[in-house]
Amino acid sequence: MTGTADPRLAEFWPLFGLSIRTPRLILTPVRDDQLPCLVDAILAGVHDPSVMPFGVPWTDAPRDILIRESLKYQWSLRAAVSPEDWTISFAVQFEGRIIGVQDLSARSFALMRRVSTGSWLTLDAQGRGLGKEMRSAVLSFAFDHLGAHSAVSDAAVWNAASLGVSAALGYQPNGTTLAEARPGEVREQQLLLLAREDFRRPQWTAAVEGVEAVRPILAGA
Ligand SMILES: CC(C)(COP(=O)(O)OP(=O)(O)OC[C@H]1O[C@@H](n2cnc3c(N)ncnc32)[C@H](O)[C@@H]1OP(=O)(O)O)[C@@H](O)C(=O)NCCC(=O)NCCS
Repeated sequence: MTGTADPRLAEFWPLFGLSIRTPRLILTPVRDDQLPCLVDAILAGVHDPSVMPFGVPWTDAPRDILIRESLKYQWSLRAAVSPEDWTISFAVQFEGRIIGVQDLSARSFALMRRVSTGSWLTLDAQGRGLGKEMRSAVLSFAFDHLGAHSAVSDAAVWNAASLGVSAALGYQPNGTTLAEARPGEVREQQLLLLAREDFRRPQWTAAVEGVEAVRPILAGA
């Protein structure tokens, strides 16, 4: 299921007509009808609560606030999309259910030609190569369909799974920085950079639909 209930919505808001398919996954910008399943995935658990992998400690919020803020976050992303600054939050579907989110962002994309990524999977979906598959999907979209020249990412220095995805796809270490993971808790963050020519491409080709209609929204003109 990649369309919307009323096809005119994808005509009026072309991001809803965008999809990326990989051998096991379907990635589509999060739609309202997917939000309940997305909330289920968040509540199912994303990481060991004793650590905080994210730059913003959103998963620490109590259940009701976590649900409400997750919905607000998705709506805020859509409302803020412009060629100067955008984040597409892709719902990741595996075997008919939503198992996580793969974000793809850029600032002044037409000028910079650089994207950044962030992602999470439910705990039961981790460690099966799906994180690598979904990051490969959005990198293929960015490099081969949007014309990106480079991609960046970052992860806590202890986040072996995230760093494992980056290493497997060809990213190079690009320095470190300090971040406040939780209030009063400093952590070292590994920065990563991937040039288009260094992308270790998967053996499959991502099937992308709807790119022409989104190009003016993401790259202007
Ligand atoms: C980060 C995340 C999306 C990675 O997805 P994943 O499905 O678990 O990772 P994959 O199974 O695709 O693994 C990709 C690579 O990393 C390696 N890897 C995965 N987990 C690892 C671990 N715990 N230790 C060492 N290497 C690991 C894999 O071996 C694989 O490398 P390979 O292709 O060379 O064999 C997922 O673990 C997750 O959602 N974590 C919690 C949230 C989070 O940390 N988000 C990122 C914030 S920066």
